[in-house]
Amino acid sequence: MEHRVIPVHLRESYNVLIGGGLLAKSGSLIRVALGDCRLAVVTDRNVAGLYLDGVLTSLREAGYDTCSFVFPAGEQSKRMDTLSNLLEFFAEERLTRTDCVLALGGGVTGDLAGFAAGCYLRGIRYVQLPTTLLAAVDSSIGGKTAVDLPQGKNLAGLFHQPSLVLCDIDCFHTLPAEELSNGAAEAIKTGILEGEPLFSLLETGNVREHIEPIVAQCVRYKANIVGQDETETGPRKLLNLGHTAGHAIEKCSGFSIPHGYAVAIGLAIIARAAETLGAVDEPIAARTESALVRNGLPITTKFSPEALANAALSDKKRTGGQITLVVPRAIGACYFLELPTAQLENFFRAGMEAGK
Ligand code: GLY
Repeated sequence: MEHRVIPVHLRESYNVLIGGGLLAKSGSLIRVALGDCRLAVVTDRNVAGLYLDGVLTSLREAGYDTCSFVFPAGEQSKRMDTLSNLLEFFAEERLTRTDCVLALGGGVTGDLAGFAAGCYLRGIRYVQLPTTLLAAVDSSIGGKTAVDLPQGKNLAGLFHQPSLVLCDIDCFHTLPAEELSNGAAEAIKTGILEGEPLFSLLETGNVREHIEPIVAQCVRYKANIVGQDETETGPRKLLNLGHTAGHAIEKCSGFSIPHGYAVAIGLAIIARAAETLGAVDEPIAARTESALVRNGLPITTKFSPEALANAALSDKKRTGGQITLVVPRAIGACYFLELPTAQLENFFRAGMEAGK
């Protein structure tokens, strides 16, 4: 079966491959991209039960010597002691500078394994094999890696680009509905940034019906942004659309609301606020809400505008000054708004009262 190839153009460029059956051919695809080396597969227990044997078989058939590190599934594993265990595992396995790590799983695995690859021996190569839609459309591309600290999420990390990303869409077809919705939120975010035809696919259908073109269009958009701005000093900040309120909602919920669900509410709030404040070129709120609801996502929250503003501002340790928001003026046209921090609560309020 053919697959799509989307390049990420950087000093060291790499390809994102999208198609069915890629895990089963991961050995030969990795051999073409990386050549000979030892491969350390990093994955969580849930994903190991589904895909590890198949991937190891493919790697061995392609002539690779492999080892694997399996950790308990969940965000609670994305922390320094797991990172430390992983680095010690690499050392015990005597991985060298020319060897490679495979991150098989969702965002936690990609962030953790990418960080470990980025600091082991001052940086070795890694390959992303995202098994969730969220990882495929967002976190597996662009080289952001991190672990959480007791003081907050993603506080320790580095930019370390993968050498290859294999998005096997067969993994996404079998995801539970909630996990598919979780990824759909980031796809809808990309649709609001990019416009058509991506947004219409999510507005008139749903992500399950159009997984392959949706993943391909999201990857193409993100690859282009990362190619322009690898370390998020400029246009890459557009990818934070919906995330100021979204992160605040995650924080207020004690991280019981999944990332995509929180971002969905953040997207609805920002679209309604922009429309209520008359800052749009066309109606966007109803279309944004309809794409979110169609994909099983929430559009309101029980938290108050005050609680969300406090959470957003304490996150950034701001007491004065400005906060940069990404605001849509139309589907496919977003801009940066420098808002005085004192106005953030009212901005959120405008987007929350309009949703009642
Ligand atoms: N998740 C947003 C980014 O990679 O920049």
